[in-house]
Amino acid sequence: MTDALIVDNVKKVYGDREAVKGVSFSVKEGEIFGLIGPNGAGKTTTLRMISTLLRITSGKITVCGYDVTEQPDDVRKIISYLPEDAGAYKDLTGLAYLKFMAGFFADGEEAEKMVTKGVEIADLDDRIKSKVDTYSKGMMRRLLIARAIMPSPKFAIMDEVTSGLDVINAYEIREIIRNIAKSGVTVLISSHNMFEVEIICDRVAMINEGHCILCGTPAELKEQYGAKNLEEVFVKAVKG
Ligand SMILES: Nc1ncnc2c1ncn2[C@@H]1O[C@H](COP(=O)(O)OP(=O)(O)OP(=O)(O)O)[C@@H](O)[C@H]1O
Ligand SMILES: [Mg+2]
Repeated sequence: MTDALIVDNVKKVYGDREAVKGVSFSVKEGEIFGLIGPNGAGKTTTLRMISTLLRITSGKITVCGYDVTEQPDDVRKIISYLPEDAGAYKDLTGLAYLKFMAGFFADGEEAEKMVTKGVEIADLDDRIKSKVDTYSKGMMRRLLIARAIMPSPKFAIMDEVTSGLDVINAYEIREIIRNIAKSGVTVLISSHNMFEVEIICDRVAMINEGHCILCGTPAELKEQYGAKNLEEVFVKAVKG
């Protein structure tokens, strides 16, 4: 398997605050990879640098062979980024929103195919024809994931994609993510929910205070630390 993403000693400084302090990890093609860590660890900052939305202060990021600083346009063509606080136009129906967004990527038959794919991923039945402002948080998240995946990115980046959702909705979103990965898309998610990441991710990187403190499969990390779960791994790793 080749590397879909290489993050090499990346730093981000905001003013005089170093938020990301030399993070390195790589993601293989077709993997579901999780970036985990507590609030303020630097997850969103890292995802935004990978997505070309934030300039890196130093280091190097390569997405599917393209350098985010040298070739940002090439990177943008193959990724999709779903921010944690993303929303959709509330006056549109879910379907109208998908049609509107598809118009940015294609037209005619190709755009129609994209919308059909989006409707399938969202799986909202008749409610796809309801206005977005009548959607629950879970329905909204499904619509946004559909929007992010319908243009068939090679690499999907999702920040805290299940945060604020109940057990059933979070479960269903994880199923959607598994299906996305099965269809050949490499997926990078962030979460502070270590249990969630453990059940969905092939490999994880743990970020704490701007440092990548661990990287591996959940099984490897648990074995290395003699821990029952990733939460325990994290506590042991942080406390030394
Ligand atoms: N635009 C900004 N200007 C200054 N500091 C920032 C900015 N964005 C983030 N930071 C700081 O960088 C650090 C990392 O923030 P980041 O949002 O990347 O963390 P996170 O791991 O995503 O946290 P959370 O789990 O709360 O989403 C924090 O200390 C935060 O206050
Ligand atoms: Mg964040």
